[in-house]
Amino acid sequence: MMSSPDGFGRFPDDFVWGTATASYQIEGAVSAAGRGASIWDTFSHTPGKVADGHTGDVACDHYHRYAEDVRLMADLGLKAYRFSIAWPRIQPTGAGPVNAEGLGFYDRLVDELLGRGIAPYATLYHWDLPQALEDLGGWTERDTAFRFADYALAVHDRLGDRIRTWTTLNEPWVSAFLGYCSGVHAPGRRSPAAGFRAAHHLLLGHGLAASALRSAGAAELALTLNLGTILGEDEEAVARVDALLNRQFLDPALRGRYPEEVLEIAAGHGGLDHIRDGDLAVINQPIDLLGVNYYCPTTVSRSPGEPANPDYPGTEDIRFVPPTGPVTSMGWPIEPASLETLLVRLSRDYPEVGLLITENGAAFEDGVTDDETGAGRVHDPERIAFLDGHLRAAHAAIAAGADLRGYLVWSLLDNFEWAYGYHKRFGIVYVDFSTQRRLPKDSALWYREVIQRNGLQGE
Ligand code: FCB
Repeated sequence: MMSSPDGFGRFPDDFVWGTATASYQIEGAVSAAGRGASIWDTFSHTPGKVADGHTGDVACDHYHRYAEDVRLMADLGLKAYRFSIAWPRIQPTGAGPVNAEGLGFYDRLVDELLGRGIAPYATLYHWDLPQALEDLGGWTERDTAFRFADYALAVHDRLGDRIRTWTTLNEPWVSAFLGYCSGVHAPGRRSPAAGFRAAHHLLLGHGLAASALRSAGAAELALTLNLGTILGEDEEAVARVDALLNRQFLDPALRGRYPEEVLEIAAGHGGLDHIRDGDLAVINQPIDLLGVNYYCPTTVSRSPGEPANPDYPGTEDIRFVPPTGPVTSMGWPIEPASLETLLVRLSRDYPEVGLLITENGAAFEDGVTDDETGAGRVHDPERIAFLDGHLRAAHAAIAAGADLRGYLVWSLLDNFEWAYGYHKRFGIVYVDFSTQRRLPKDSALWYREVIQRNGLQGE
């Protein structure tokens, strides 16, 4: 690690330090101010879809407590806050006139952030599609991409004077393949063909929205992908999974083409008719930042006769190897070195785009312990070690030439972790869901010092 004379590893002076959240995971207030239903309302209210029948109806009640939450962010010294905008608050049925009251919430949030010197990073789509659009076919329908661009522009019209950085989509791989192929996420459909169609229309929506926002004067445009290093001895297996997870989105968005492996697999699952002439040029808009959501690597091996992984159509004869080393409470392997590999690779293969880690973090079994003040403490040394290790990897990647501009921890608050409900705690701030009391964990206090120091302690 590069170190300064006082012995502390330092990040670049303008490095962006922050945290991230998403609308459905924290806001609650699902029927406030004319909000329409989203696919996650429907899914979480369908028995058997989410652990213990948890829903986002109340979540962290951030819709009502946003001012307190922003104060907390300021106390932690955050420079940036990534949040997402709930499309069904803006257009309750996914089309037509804007619901001014719904937009008003984000207007107040942005002003509160700016008032405390925190840069707002808005994501336009973090999985809460208006249910009315799903009823028309959702992301398997081409029209949804055009609806998304209209919505994006309407939000930008109101907030573009105060938000510099606009991210179109969060993790389209997850929306498409967990939502439409394996069905473990909303809307819960189970068809590989639907997965590939959804992926393409999400990409098209990204391109249309990016182009519209650019014309409207957006300062900085981003696309956030869940990316991971694929490990294994068998080159063909590694390349196939890398194509499905990483290059299926990187190459259309940044190179204007699909990887051959993806075209071949998609052709065998419903065909390629949904990809029209000119689409790839629309998708391939210049963007300023690639948002990297990184949690863990994936290890694969060749295994003749193995059926395809339900999340990855086309992976017959490939085994997804379970982790053998340390894992988080999600069961995800803890391997910071593979973040360095990923960042260096991205800057090598796509040098024109800056990188921002838009999510990195971990769930562990946290609990409140008594302390002498009576307020309680949450000791989470495993999370501190996780974040420290990944920041060291990020620092090493910068030293090796990666154009990494910032790091946003997932997440500010414990929240609704999709199909796992409230059982998985990713926050650096503990939330008692019965009282809504917030309590910064030890990791939050540690992160505050990292930010103050603009780096890690020691070598
Ligand atoms: C990512 C999501 C985010 C959160 C983390 C743990 O895939 O973008 O909402 O659930 O995983």
